Amino acid sequence: MSELSQRPEHAVVGEGMPHESAALHVTGRAIYTDDLTPRTKGVLHAWPVQSPHAHARITRLHIEPAYGEPGVVRVLTAGDVPGLNDSGIKHDEPLFPTEVMYHGQGVCWVLGETLEAARRGAGRIEVDYEPLPALLTIREAIAARSFQGVMPGAGRGDVEEALARAAHVFEGETEMAGQEQFYLETHASLAEVDDNGQVFVQSSTQHPTETQEVVAHVLGLSSHAVTVQCLRMGGGFGGKETQANPYAAVAALGATVTGRPVRVRLTRAQDITMTGKRHGFHAGWRVGFDDTGHLVALDTTLTSDGGWSLDLSEPVLARAICHVDNAYWIPAIRIHGRVARTHKTSQTAFRGFGGPQGMLVIEDILGRCAPLLGIDPLDLRRRNFYAEGQETPYGQPVRHADRVRVAWDQVLATGDVVRRTQEIAAFNAAHAHTKRALAVTPVKFGISFNLTAFNQAGALVHVYKDGSVLINHGGTEMGQGLHTKMLQVAATSLGVPLSRVRLAPTRTDKVPNTSATAASSGSDLNGAAIKNACEQITARLAEVDDGRNLAWDELVREAYFARVPLFAAGYYRTEGLHWDATVFRGTPFKYFAYGVAAAEVEVDGFTGAYRTRRVDIVHDVGDSLSPLVDLGQIEGGFVQGAGWLTLEDLRWDTTEGEHRGRLTTQAASTYKLPSFSEMPEDFRVATLEHAHEDGAVYGSKAVGEPPLMLAFSVREALRQACAAFGPAGISVELPSPATPEAVYWALDTARRAVAPEPAGA
Ligand code: MTE
Ligand code: MOS
Repeated sequence: MSELSQRPEHAVVGEGMPHESAALHVTGRAIYTDDLTPRTKGVLHAWPVQSPHAHARITRLHIEPAYGEPGVVRVLTAGDVPGLNDSGIKHDEPLFPTEVMYHGQGVCWVLGETLEAARRGAGRIEVDYEPLPALLTIREAIAARSFQGVMPGAGRGDVEEALARAAHVFEGETEMAGQEQFYLETHASLAEVDDNGQVFVQSSTQHPTETQEVVAHVLGLSSHAVTVQCLRMGGGFGGKETQANPYAAVAALGATVTGRPVRVRLTRAQDITMTGKRHGFHAGWRVGFDDTGHLVALDTTLTSDGGWSLDLSEPVLARAICHVDNAYWIPAIRIHGRVARTHKTSQTAFRGFGGPQGMLVIEDILGRCAPLLGIDPLDLRRRNFYAEGQETPYGQPVRHADRVRVAWDQVLATGDVVRRTQEIAAFNAAHAHTKRALAVTPVKFGISFNLTAFNQAGALVHVYKDGSVLINHGGTEMGQGLHTKMLQVAATSLGVPLSRVRLAPTRTDKVPNTSATAASSGSDLNGAAIKNACEQITARLAEVDDGRNLAWDELVREAYFARVPLFAAGYYRTEGLHWDATVFRGTPFKYFAYGVAAAEVEVDGFTGAYRTRRVDIVHDVGDSLSPLVDLGQIEGGFVQGAGWLTLEDLRWDTTEGEHRGRLTTQAASTYKLPSFSEMPEDFRVATLEHAHEDGAVYGSKAVGEPPLMLAFSVREALRQACAAFGPAGISVELPSPATPEAVYWALDTARRAVAPEPAGA
């Protein structure tokens, strides 16, 4: 056995241990959904016919020629659907459409003995289209008033009056691109039907219960006739929260129609052209400051690019609205939101779930306004932090607000920020064509699902007669280390060595009615449910023990013979939450996760190329359940955020030609992802100390998403580095993503700028 697979005997909660599958991951032995295909007999392979238009009516679909292709077994069309021809969570996504709404949309699916046979069969299907006008950008959608879903508004105070009295008022627009999840494992499902008509779908899904429900709807079955299992995912990042559903439905439908196992596994090009991404956003804003740089008012309208259907666009927008304040107190505030409908993939969850987009707006505002106010961005940010007890725009008191200041001051101290800022100034004075800058930005991120009902979880814990333990819970593993933490929670709670506990794959017939593993709440919810189950068992065992202090195995044996049940179903719901979505008020979050990052960059004035020289982070994970896992989440989240903000550039063909609406960045060759070479050269991550979180499982905090937003520090450092090419005091507008090309044009603009008048003059 390799060293890596040796689990520490006593890795209780709070001790660092490797990911439970680390050895399997690095040796390639970990089994993902599609690895089951070669282990399953008689599997049929599925290939989609994809639309070559962004928007068109299908006037004729001629599938017969496909059957002329050797190995083609069946073509699936709308006529095969026994239930509902829809796989959207809002019932606005026909599985087999009569009108295609984006370039690449699946029209029908071919099942073949081999993938090659299915592919060739798909190539022979004849589809006639009547092309229709297509909207591709948020601006086009706004101009056409093409919106979908509710248009919420939130806020407090008299914004107009506050703006009228403000010493300084600025207005502007902020636009940001979306982001492809680019999980390494593309969408995959394998479906089988047994002799009893029970449908078993193995799917790479973050939300097995919803996948179960969508499959049941499409097949016209009740939920109990469909079981969904998720072994593990090779990354989800939000991209498998809803987006697995149609592919699971196609596999299940195929299995039902043919009586054979059916596998759907998207190629990278299919995955990236068919499935949803992070929403791009547009924000128009007016902001007011008093003469000491305190925010007094903000009026902003957020428009997200929802793509062709609603999917999760409404809750993503809600989270964006709830995060426009980030860590800052804004006395008078009004936020409007709307979802644009465009002819693109249906944009969806991506780490942060709209939070990053909302927060980018205020960070962009502060980064642009600081020079106009004549205040150092560092001071401007710190000056505006929430004080304890002040309320967010939606009325939730900000508890532990001081943690932002504590983390901020710690980053400044351990990052030696004052001295390095002086060094950077000296460096910049001495170098005309290379500039450096250092920026510090905070994160405040609300933990819990906005929709209160989702904040519940279940678990199933079995203790066998020999004292070994098997746990099951409703969360899914996507590399984030949820299962690792759950093993630690169970071992700690039962008081047994970790080696006595195993964890079985997530299945809807073990734990029903689960929520998506999302909103970073996986450990909070499932951990508490597991702990609850374990506590039921330990309470029963304590009675059997009756003060004798028996060894675990002996106690379990005695309990069995005393006919004491050795298994329990655990349940948890987060208390104290309420949310009124109609007025956008309440306490939607159990707590906030906080963090601060300082990033130093160096920008080349000839090309716009840059390096991230050093990053210092202090992040609040409460009392960590599993410190190595948390470290990985903080580092990974940060780098993924930096990718979104500075590298990853989704491009659709927006010309009026025949390729209008085609995604032109379909692979890692054209879609630039962060890799080792983009890692900060010096990367120092610390977790906040004395951060016990009352009421959360073992005092821990969620960690999955919040660190992504620490990457604003890189974007702000790039802005300041661009500014350093120009005269003092200029405000730099930086596109997002701030690719090297974008950075070049921003610094070139700065270079040509004339020195501005100071604001107070
Ligand atoms: N980390 C890895 N390695 N892979 C992932 O897919 N997804 C992120 C985050 N970290 C993800 C990840 C997202 S979007 C969320 S919501 C959380 O993990 C979900 O898991 P948790 O609730 O257990 O933290
Ligand atoms: Mo994460 S975006 O909530 O799956």
